[in-house]
Amino acid sequence: MTKLFTVDPLNPDPRAIEQCCEILRGGGVVAFPTETVYGLGASARDPKAVNRIYALKGRPKDNPLIVHISKLDHLTLVAAEVPEPLYILARIAWPGPLTVLLKRGPEVVPEVTAGLPTVAVRMPAHPVALSLIECAGPLAAPSANISGKPSPTTGRHALLDMFGRAEAIIDAGESFLGVESTILDLTAWPPRLLRPGAMPLETIEEILSVKVVVPESARGLSEAEVALAPGMKYRHYAPEKPLIVVEAPDTESLVEGALDLLRSLKAEGKRAAVVATRETAHAYAAVAEAVIVAGSRANLYEVAKNLFGALRELDRLNVDVAVFEGLPESGIGLAIMNRVRKAAVKRVVKSSHQLRLEGGAEPRSHEPQK
Ligand code: TXA
Ligand code: MG
Repeated sequence: MTKLFTVDPLNPDPRAIEQCCEILRGGGVVAFPTETVYGLGASARDPKAVNRIYALKGRPKDNPLIVHISKLDHLTLVAAEVPEPLYILARIAWPGPLTVLLKRGPEVVPEVTAGLPTVAVRMPAHPVALSLIECAGPLAAPSANISGKPSPTTGRHALLDMFGRAEAIIDAGESFLGVESTILDLTAWPPRLLRPGAMPLETIEEILSVKVVVPESARGLSEAEVALAPGMKYRHYAPEKPLIVVEAPDTESLVEGALDLLRSLKAEGKRAAVVATRETAHAYAAVAEAVIVAGSRANLYEVAKNLFGALRELDRLNVDVAVFEGLPESGIGLAIMNRVRKAAVKRVVKSSHQLRLEGGAEPRSHEPQK
């Protein structure tokens, strides 16, 4: 039986938190909101409970989990060493959508890190998450989706994926940001970006006064090496419908490229939806079966917040394929494009004269799912 709790995100009922805390202390698994996406949490000290997270999500055992803390004091429990730059970062970035990779400490069981000597740690900026951790101690939690699906950004999404699986679900409405945390490897210097996320890379570089190393895989353009971020090798965030991303250097050629693609899909007899922005949506009315407006090109935070909802929406539409209009890779745009490229089966690059398919991997359905 899954217990459901509906709470105010900013002022959660302490009795609901207390009950969920009891469930966690007893080895249960609870889906809870964070500012980025919903997480599926268990005590980071309880190997049996942590193993259940993998089972409930259908997540491969080699893909480690993030440990969520509520105060800096927790660092000495979960990490073996705290590098000096983390204190500088934490002053500004925590609580917030930044995860750092550290050497694993004594209070984190190996099941959490899939046996790796490192641990990913973050302090979420959500009153529900913070009060839950304050009561139950550090929580291991991946995103609360079934593996391979888009991350849940509303209580309803979490419910659709985890009802009948988790012991409890806390519904606090929409996540504030909509894409997952940025993951930064602090075990090396200069630090390395393992996954772009809601905390912009530019902000981290400014706080630390250092140029962060950004591997191709962090942009979603190639697969990561196993040791880098095990989760990156699996297809992620994907709707069931095939998704094609159109990318171009400017908005005009982007719209042209998307229109060309939509026309050729139509000529093949395929029903296509397009995920566009408020500024460009009108261009597709005649050629697309459905147009989803994800937000404004002038405010990528709006697109980020609606992104996973839009990907889930695609599966409810009566279409065969979906086209996603690319966005600039600055600020939170880097996180959006990483997610979309990973969700996509093909990327289309439109230059001024020709349309060509790039990175034309066929649907990777044979791959193991995250
Ligand atoms: O915003 C977020 O980060 C959300 C909320 C719930 O906090 N969590 C989240 O967790 O996105 P998950 O499990 O969906 O993604 C965690 C990523 C995976 O790609 C995993 O491989 C990587 O972090 N990761 C975790 N521990 C790691 C480690 N020790 N070394 C390298 N990568 C690690
Ligand atoms: Mg995830």
